[in-house]
Order: sequence, then C-alpha cells, then structure tokens
Amino acid sequence: MKLRNILGIDIGGSGVKGAIVDTKKGVLLTERFRIPTPQPATPEAVAKVMKKITQHFDWNGPVGAGFPGVIQQGVARTAANVDKSWIDKNLNKLFSQATGCKVHVVNDADAAGMAEVKFGAGKGKKGTLLLVTVGTGLGTVIFSNGKLVPNLEMGHILLHGADAELYATDAARKKNNLDWDTWAGRFNEYLLRMEELVWPDRIIIGGGASKKGDLFFHHLTTKAKVVPAKLMNEAGIVGAAMVSKYYNKLEK
Ligand code: BGC
Repeated sequence: MKLRNILGIDIGGSGVKGAIVDTKKGVLLTERFRIPTPQPATPEAVAKVMKKITQHFDWNGPVGAGFPGVIQQGVARTAANVDKSWIDKNLNKLFSQATGCKVHVVNDADAAGMAEVKFGAGKGKKGTLLLVTVGTGLGTVIFSNGKLVPNLEMGHILLHGADAELYATDAARKKNNLDWDTWAGRFNEYLLRMEELVWPDRIIIGGGASKKGDLFFHHLTTKAKVVPAKLMNEAGIVGAAMVSKYYNKLEK
C-alpha cells in the first residue's frame, strides 16, 4: 500500500497540534486538534498528550512530529523552551512506545521548512532561502536549491550581546508588552544580522506571527524579499507528516 495519509503533530511551547495530512497534496484532511502544552513540558507529560492526539484520530498508522529543539536521529539534543529533561532522550522511542504508532521526530522549523519549500512560499524557488519561524522561539532553516541542512540553530545568534531569541521572538513581544512597531524594529535588526551572515535570496516568515504580517512587514528592510509562509500555522504539521513519510520509505 502506498503511504500517503500521515498524522502530523507539531509540539509547540504553548500547544501540541495534530491533524491527518495528505502528504501528496500538502493539505490537512481533518480539523487541527490542539491540546495545551502541559506545564512543565516534561517528556512524560508530552508523551501522554501525543497518545491523546492519536486516540482522538483513532490512529494507528505512522506519525511525524516536530519538536522545538535539535533532533539527531530521533534524539533530542537541545531544549530551549521546554523542560531540560528532554536532552538526550530518544523521542522516536518514547513517543512510539506511548502511542503504539511508529513515530518519527524532527526539529519543528525543519518540518515547517520542508512543507513551505514543497507546497508553499518556497515552491520552485532556486537559490538560498531562509525561513524564520516566529513563535515561542525563533526557528531557522536554510535551503540551498531545495536542499536542507537540518538543525540550524540561528535563532540563538547574539544580538546586543544576548541570545537573539530573548530579544526578537513573539514571546519577547508579549513578555515585554512591546507594541508592534517596536517589536518589528527588533525583528528587523535580527533579519539584517541574519542577512549579513547568510545572504539569502528570499526570506520566508512562518510561525504564529506570520498571520500578523500586516502589522510588521512594512518595517522590514533587508535586501532579500521577505514573504509570509503560505501554509502559515499548518506548515509544522504538514512538514512533520512529510518527514515521517520520508523515513518510512527509507526504512522499508
Ligand atoms: C529552538 C529551535 C526551534 C525553535 C522554534 C528554538 O528555541 O532552539 O530548535 O526550532 O525554537 O521552535
């Protein structure tokens, strides 16, 4: 049987969201089902949420999940905005055991990037593409002629001597009660610094803030054209499902 429909799950700082994805068309076949991220967001607590999501969809097929940290062959290496006890845990194993499904985990921004390049704002684009997801954290992905280098953690470059994520992410805007113009100035500084380091031909903005583009895109002054992600908040779910399909094919 051809693998086409896969359950994609996006594990975020505030919510864990899942939907069944048609990986050929890059669309959701169901409504998104969201459960607030448990606090503290420990591996065991999130594994229970993963189980609830598979049960909600009555699912026993393959699952792809995006996680907000570095993932090497299913093992978490960093955990900037979730509990530190994730580090060095094999998430493929943990979630597969918890759900009874075959689960593959990748970095959340990598998943979103895969979806945008195949189906969204990066579709058919040659050259260097930088995708920045703006949510609780700053996720970064670079594609060169459609090829991805996984686990780039450029949301943590230094700006004003501190982690850029603390200065320019959407969570920083909310935490410091910044108005959109002030926050946009900070985010623009971040993009300008990234431009100096990466020289992308095109920049795609994804994550929660991508829905609010009207409020800040006019402040962005990079040479590279900046566009909003087309799949918006769905990119993480669609991309996670695509990655699961890829690994399932590889492991056949
Ligand atoms: C993490 C990245 C993640 C990004 C978006 C950052 O804090 O270090 O791995 O992709 O947040 O969730």
